[in-house]
Amino acid sequence: MKIAIIGTGYVGLPSGVGFAELGNDVYCIDNNVSKINMLNKGILTLYENGLEELFRHNVKEGRLHFTTSMSEGIKDADLVIIAVGTPPHPITKEADLQYIEAAAQELAPHLTGYTVVATKSTVPVGTGDKVEAIIRKFNSKADVDIISLPEFLREGFAIYDFFNPERIVVGTDSERARQLIRDLYVSFKNTKLLFVNRKSSETIKYASNAFLAIKLNYINEMANFCEKSGADIDEVAEGMGLDSRIGNKFLKAGPGYGGSCFPKDTNAMSYMARQYGVTMPLIDTTIAENDARPALMAQRILSMAGNDAKIAVLGLAFKNGTDDCRTSPAIQIIEKMLEKKANIIAYDPQANISALKILGNKIAYADDAYGAVKDADIIAVLTEWKEFAELDWQKISGMVKQKNIMDCRNILDGNTLKELGFKYRCIGQKPE
Ligand code: NAD
Ligand code: UGA
Repeated sequence: MKIAIIGTGYVGLPSGVGFAELGNDVYCIDNNVSKINMLNKGILTLYENGLEELFRHNVKEGRLHFTTSMSEGIKDADLVIIAVGTPPHPITKEADLQYIEAAAQELAPHLTGYTVVATKSTVPVGTGDKVEAIIRKFNSKADVDIISLPEFLREGFAIYDFFNPERIVVGTDSERARQLIRDLYVSFKNTKLLFVNRKSSETIKYASNAFLAIKLNYINEMANFCEKSGADIDEVAEGMGLDSRIGNKFLKAGPGYGGSCFPKDTNAMSYMARQYGVTMPLIDTTIAENDARPALMAQRILSMAGNDAKIAVLGLAFKNGTDDCRTSPAIQIIEKMLEKKANIIAYDPQANISALKILGNKIAYADDAYGAVKDADIIAVLTEWKEFAELDWQKISGMVKQKNIMDCRNILDGNTLKELGFKYRCIGQKPE
């Protein structure tokens, strides 16, 4: 199958590499010239576990191409996937569809033969109808089905999720399009292909992300309760998760959810609900409580550190396994501390450069964790990288100025740290 993917970002690039690995001829199209130039030189434009090896393999096999040209990518394609951004509008927070609309308009004239155009970007309900109208306006003769094919991958696990999806949701009434998608995923024997109508498919994506965000907010709310009551949130989450109706995933309390998706998609869902005159207080409360969490974390760190403290931050990405700092709780917490003129040095295994683009030289950056913690008055763990738990904490206890740790991800061994003389505070445990 010839597949064109429009948008070579955190979704488009791993998906393109994945489809090429399945044996398809894949054209990744992006209008960011420097991105395409880098990829054509063999330089990856983002960090994602396991991506590099598959990228190199498929480029070598001649199945993976990068281009800025719509005509080169779309001509003779059986499937065109739209994977451009749908960022929040700065004021209304609704999903901004300008990139989707531009992509639809730009791809339309180049369609040849029967083509399925699939929207993989997360888009408001009814966007499929808009994309269809645009494509028909700019190519009235096109033999095309416009379907919804939402993406459920997680950053950091994008390659794993591509090859092991729990479900593939397809929104279309066209049997021809359904057959093409069945053929595309023919080797995914254990994955449920769920065919629904286009609007249901668009809704499933928002409904899923909003539900997960609510679940995270719930466990963080419970963590606040544990901090007063003396229970331990990790034990509580383990006990809850043993009930299969609740499930043991997405119960890790932390500094609030971040990333380019949950904050954006909960806000877009809330906006959509208002447009339809529906109230969704669960979602609205989740948004408000999650928005308040970085300030709470910042205040805890500052209250442990004292005036003029040197604060060593471990972790800048919004989660482990990625260099993505978009709406990262770590960045938000740092920004809150900077409002109080905090002196911060930070280290992230992958995200120092992404963070530098947001924070500039308002903080210092270290090349490794030991460089960050040297002479620190407090260490704040803000991203759940496994390597932070594996640091030589005995060595660190001899390097810091004061032995204070605020573990916002509950990944360190508090007992060992206390034995080493650290004052250790984490999420969802009563401070000693
Ligand atoms: P991204 O910003 O990383 O990538 C989008 C890319 O599209 C950019 O490289 C941009 O240059 C390109 N682009 C924009 N307009 C274009 C055009 N007209 N022609 C060609 N290229 C164009 O975004 P992302 O994180 O990959 O997200 C894309 C969509 O997928 C969003 O709707 C997002 O909500 C959704 N999504 C993201 C994830 C995730 O983990 N990041 C997971 C599931 C769904
Ligand atoms: C999320 C969803 O998990 C994906 O299914 C979806 O495709 C994607 O959004 C999207 O629509 O773009 P992602 O944002 O990559 O994926 O990352 P998650 O693993 O969901 O984490 C989101 C945030 O929640 C992170 O800040 C993470 O640290 C936090 N989190 C996650 C917790 O605090 N506790 C948990 O137990 C899980």
